[in-house]
Amino acid sequence: MILAWSDELKVGNAVMDADHEELFHVLARFEGADGPAWVAAFEGLAQHLTEHFERENELMRKHGFFAYHCHHGEHDSVLAEVGAMLAAAKAGDLVPARTFIDDVIGPWFLNHRNTMDWVTAQFLKSAGASGAAC
Ligand SMILES: [Fe+2]
Ligand SMILES: [Fe+2]
Repeated sequence: MILAWSDELKVGNAVMDADHEELFHVLARFEGADGPAWVAAFEGLAQHLTEHFERENELMRKHGFFAYHCHHGEHDSVLAEVGAMLAAAKAGDLVPARTFIDDVIGPWFLNHRNTMDWVTAQFLKSAGASGAAC
């Protein structure tokens, strides 16, 4: 599934690091869950990602991040995919959502953290952003 959270995953922005650590807690809810509890965990993940991504989007907008559209666009495409998988799961088809949790989100997060989130955090540092909520 996904690795455990560790301080090595921090990108150096307090808002982003708190959201990333929270993501691991949200993913832990899938362990041992089944049926409606599993669908509720997926709904919780969709809610977390919506809020997590919006906080990053707001930091990027506020500080004029040069690759805002690229990073924001990836957030939007993930939210669209997760929304479609949540709708399917609620309708009884858990296969896409289960595949996403088992095989996709771990590698996706690590890649996203190592690329767009990392570059964004370095930019925010150089822009003097404290990481405080907007
Ligand atoms: Fe992030
Ligand atoms: Fe991001």
